[in-house]
Amino acid sequence: MVKVGGSLGDDMSRACADIRDLVAEGSSVVVVHGGGAESDRLAAELGRTTRYLTSGGGRRSRYTDAEALDSLTLGMLGRVKPPLVVELLRTGVRAVGLSGVDGGLVTARRTPPARVVVDGVDRVVRDDLSGRIADVDPHLLRTLLDGGYVPVVSPPALDPEAGPLNVDADRFAARLAVALGADWLIVLSNVPGLLRDQDDPASLVAEVPCDDLAAHLDLAGGRMKVKLRSAGEARLAGVPHVVLADGRVPSPVLAARAGSGTTFVEGAR
Ligand SMILES: Nc1ncnc2c1ncn2[C@@H]1O[C@H](COP(=O)(O)OP(=O)(O)O)[C@@H](O)[C@H]1O
Ligand SMILES: [Mg+2]
Repeated sequence: MVKVGGSLGDDMSRACADIRDLVAEGSSVVVVHGGGAESDRLAAELGRTTRYLTSGGGRRSRYTDAEALDSLTLGMLGRVKPPLVVELLRTGVRAVGLSGVDGGLVTARRTPPARVVVDGVDRVVRDDLSGRIADVDPHLLRTLLDGGYVPVVSPPALDPEAGPLNVDADRFAARLAVALGADWLIVLSNVPGLLRDQDDPASLVAEVPCDDLAAHLDLAGGRMKVKLRSAGEARLAGVPHVVLADGRVPSPVLAARAGSGTTFVEGAR
């Protein structure tokens, strides 16, 4: 399982040649991508404002009203996924683009209305269309992998009652890795891994004990926190090799497999 972060922009395609090499050596590969940054750009082009809400616990997240979900879906499925699929096809990989909705792949439950702060105002938000992943049915992915295809997957996921929902792409990748019994979960982003000091790329934390994430969570800002949590959960749920690594280097997947980045290990050290 290779997750390429939306923050990588055009660097997302750096993973494609590595994926070709892995497929050539007989590995089954699934690609998950995000696309928040591109969706924000698209929203701006459409004259839409991206709003954020802050929960009681201080967590800041995107306010996904119907218009924002539309921008996210258009961005991920229309702007981010096609060039990835095209680049993989160009290198000789039989890539297929999908969302979590296709084939009932990822089911989610909508986040219930909550008291939050939006634009400095305390209010109850009832129209947020985001949720948590409830279930993964990997049947479609297995069918594609057995046929020699490389699925390129992203949110949204489907709530049978509320419809398509935005879910976090790092969680999405982690849950798919667990459901497929993947050997590897490689999460590529625009940083070398978890850093002790966000402004110092040399301050990489090489190993994180997955059953003692708490201390490390304090190091991480909001968007890195969810990466740590979901990667740690995947490791605890049985994915043997879980790495957060730099997607901006020439051979990012092979470098991560060779030990660069932040690796999740069992047991406190
Ligand atoms: N301790 C940390 N180490 C590394 N990155 C961090 C840390 N805390 C916060 N971050 C931020 O997390 C970002 C990566 O998350 P995000 O922007 O969501 O990337 P992606 O698109 O790959 O999911 C980094 O660019 C960095 O700004
Ligand atoms: Mg992110």
